[in-house]
Amino acid sequence: MDTKAKKEMLEKLRGEALLGGGQDRIDAQHAKGKMTARERVEAFLDKGSFRELDAFVAHRTHDFQMDRKTFLGDSVVTGWGQVEGRPVYVFSQDFTVLGGSLGEVHAEKICKVMDLAVKNGVPVVGLNDSGGARIQEGVVSLGAYADIFLRNTLASGVVPQISAILGPCAGGAVYSPALTDFIMMVKKTSHMFITGPDVVKTVTHEDVSMDDLGGAGIHASKSGVAHFVAEDEKDALAGLRNLLSYLPSNNMEDPPRVETGDDPARREEALDAIVPDDPRKAYDMHEVIGHVVDNGEFLEVHAAFAGNIIVGFARMDGHTVGIVANQPMVLAGVLDIDASVKGARFVRFCDAFNIPIITFEDVPGFMPGVDQEHRGIILHGAKLLYAYCEATVPKLTVITRKAYGGAYDVMSSKHIRGDYNVSWPTGEIAVMGPDGAVNIIFRKEIAEAADPAARRAELIELYKDKFANPFVAAGRGYLDDVIDPADTRARLIEALRITRNKRDSNPPRKHSTMPL
Ligand code: HXC
Repeated sequence: MDTKAKKEMLEKLRGEALLGGGQDRIDAQHAKGKMTARERVEAFLDKGSFRELDAFVAHRTHDFQMDRKTFLGDSVVTGWGQVEGRPVYVFSQDFTVLGGSLGEVHAEKICKVMDLAVKNGVPVVGLNDSGGARIQEGVVSLGAYADIFLRNTLASGVVPQISAILGPCAGGAVYSPALTDFIMMVKKTSHMFITGPDVVKTVTHEDVSMDDLGGAGIHASKSGVAHFVAEDEKDALAGLRNLLSYLPSNNMEDPPRVETGDDPARREEALDAIVPDDPRKAYDMHEVIGHVVDNGEFLEVHAAFAGNIIVGFARMDGHTVGIVANQPMVLAGVLDIDASVKGARFVRFCDAFNIPIITFEDVPGFMPGVDQEHRGIILHGAKLLYAYCEATVPKLTVITRKAYGGAYDVMSSKHIRGDYNVSWPTGEIAVMGPDGAVNIIFRKEIAEAADPAARRAELIELYKDKFANPFVAAGRGYLDDVIDPADTRARLIEALRITRNKRDSNPPRKHSTMPL
């Protein structure tokens, strides 16, 4: 065979690989409103940057006449490319080949890019669309999944790992995305569950649709499994690109700086009017965030889950920051189980990847109640406390109004290594709100008063004068300053500059025993 013939053979084989499971399967994929694995990779990466690996790999199974069903590249497309000029490894499961099912070589291809990603300090993005373990390969495919789970775990905190669910993701297969940092789902076409509706019906006798069991809406709002929901696949892939723009490539780097054009010294008089005079009135913490961060741009994570805490990424003077904020509009911003776990997870991600954390605090405390206590608010609340205590990235805190009880300590207080802790003049820092406090410490006095209601009101005013302000805390140095709300952005950017080279560490140990 001469060189020309050999090159023709290469072209023929490559053409075969590019077709995946064949034109009919591609048409069927399109008919479901889904892109093919390769189309997704092209849409996700910078144009022309994809370099495929292992396009000629094929499975080695003979059982169940599988030798008649081989496809070049098997059921996953893998390689590297760029997002906004920055490198990323990607794998994209190909549903047109044996339903995207995962067998030995499919897993080998994924493991190869994961190993390369860790070695080269580059994020890994997985585009999932698979019928799960390849049934014909039996236990081999279970072992193959475990090979991936191990790598997900070892890569955790070393390089960002991001999963998009763009079709079915069932059974043990869900655990690879679950071990990654962020999960993006798509409305209608993506589903995640341990067992599908049929098995649920058999085991628990519940009737439930695919969407109600494990669709994007449920996982984004109820279970918290999904961090982001997209309208369609294009929206999902654009969302992943945007997310990556906030992140460093690995744990040894800082996130990239982006020129945002927003004045670092910008004053925002509007912030003066946000906190209502009546402490029982709510306001939207999104507004505070919007006024402070560069150009008001905020990539909210877990937007539909545990709305009483807000978490997400923004930029300050072009540098990525993680925002954690209590939301007075939802359950008065109280910390319950879901909010604690959501916050803890985000704080730990930021800490792992050198992203400073800005906390906006207006919190009446932890959620009381039998349900929360019985489900373990003590344990789960401790996760958020633990995450903040452990974090060594720059931690900046702005108390906008309430900082009550244990929640004062938890939300990045000075005592747990807060680097710059300030309050607005509207701050109220105390063990508990005035009503509850007066009922406890003056119970006898109120009962014995000639006019108990009047005496109670009097005592509440007294308590407010004493504690419902930031100056007791500032007087002890628990707050570094009390600031004009309009100056919040400028003050935070100054603090971010001075803490940019912060060095802090935790004691050496195998690993901690955080309250899981
Ligand atoms: C082998 C599979 C497959 C699988 C699908 N296919 N899933 N082949 N192993 N797991 C094949 C089908 O046989 C079919 O091939 C082709 O892919 C397309 O599948 P369809 O069923 O025609 O597609 P659709 O109607 O869209 O349904 C998609 C589906 C369904 C919902 C994913 O295929 C399905 O329920 N598959 C099985 C899912 C499952 O139970 N997997 C195991 C989960 S347990 P032909 O050639 O006939 O068209 C698991 C354990 C992991 O994953 C444990 C890790 C620890």
